[in-house]
Amino acid sequence: MNVRNQTSSKVQVTSHMEIFSIFSSWLLTALLVLSMFWICRYTLKSNRSSMVSPKLPPNPPKLPIIGNLHQLLGKPRHLAFWQLSQEYGPVMLLNIGTRSCLIISSSAMAMEVLKDQDQILCSRPISKTTKLLTYNYVDAAFSPHSNHWRKMRKALVSEFVGPKRARLTNHVLLTEVEIMLRSISLHPSNSAVNITELFLAIAKAMICKVAFGSNYREREQLLKGPSLEVMLDEVMELLDPSLSDLFPWLGPIVDQISGRNHMLEKLFSNLDAYIQTNVDDHKNHIGKVDDDEKDFLHTLLELSSIENASHDDRFTIEEIKALIMDIFIGGIDTTFATMVWAMSEIIRNPRVMQKVQSEIRNCAEKTKAR
Ligand code: HEM
Repeated sequence: MNVRNQTSSKVQVTSHMEIFSIFSSWLLTALLVLSMFWICRYTLKSNRSSMVSPKLPPNPPKLPIIGNLHQLLGKPRHLAFWQLSQEYGPVMLLNIGTRSCLIISSSAMAMEVLKDQDQILCSRPISKTTKLLTYNYVDAAFSPHSNHWRKMRKALVSEFVGPKRARLTNHVLLTEVEIMLRSISLHPSNSAVNITELFLAIAKAMICKVAFGSNYREREQLLKGPSLEVMLDEVMELLDPSLSDLFPWLGPIVDQISGRNHMLEKLFSNLDAYIQTNVDDHKNHIGKVDDDEKDFLHTLLELSSIENASHDDRFTIEEIKALIMDIFIGGIDTTFATMVWAMSEIIRNPRVMQKVQSEIRNCAEKTKAR
């Protein structure tokens, strides 16, 4: 019995050892296969990611959370970019909070981005401000590249800046320059003239007259809110990315507490009221206006009521208002800032000033002689 028991326990020990050795060799093989699989996968993945992720442009050293934000504070942004570009080259990458921004600082690179690679790079960053001011991206400037964008751009190019409107634009420009010259000549000699104010008035009058007709000021007076100039100043301030855009986890709370959200909503409601007043007035009078007196808004309203047009071709009131918002935001500040910049450069450069003055005198004498 004992011997039998001893023998059977020996057999059991032997069979346990066999099972253990079979199990361990299986385990070893499985581990070997798994590690080979893991090594292959890792190698493939790193090869693929080095093929897929492009080599990024130079990036100045950044801080955690804020990224390169500290390098832009305390100086005008274009100067900060220019100074960094002297060290990091004409194409550099900056991280502002959670956003990566590609900064272009040479005309050759600007040509590459704005012309040659336009299809890839033409979309604009989205933000709370642009979403609201473009009536949820139905405009031309911020709408993503699509058939809708083509429709909006076509309307803008053919009906606002195209040859059809050029005669009216030239006429408005001449009138406004005459008004400006008269206003300057009324100033006592040797007194300072605020050129910035005059240029802003010209840019605003040009855009508003071409968009809403020459009686736009009368409608403006009916409104109780701030002036268009004040609203556009606020737009420029709010077009800067908000803390919600840069730090999505904490920014929304700060934007709410600081009053930025409230300021943005109030601004949009005032601008919308301004545009709506013009839309309503134009709708009421559209039947009584001659074809050659029709302004941009008249034309857009006509495009919204073409009977046989398909749903996609017809303009909605929101699309019309978004296009008007585009020309306010894109057309007034850019035009007057360019004029102020050109005049400042002429004043700083006496040789150019003399050349411009003699060109104007020559031209004026020739006109007088005719
Ligand atoms: C000196 C004056 C101006 C300057 C420096 C200027 C500058 C620019 C620049 C750099 C762009 C971006 C181009 C791009 O992304 O490819 C642009 C687009 C635009 N500008 Fe101007 N602009 C001026 C006048 C105007 C005027 C008078 C209007 C009014 C109609 C206007 C309306 C627009 C619109 C709607 C866009 C977006 C177009 C699109 O995305 O296709 N701009 N402008």
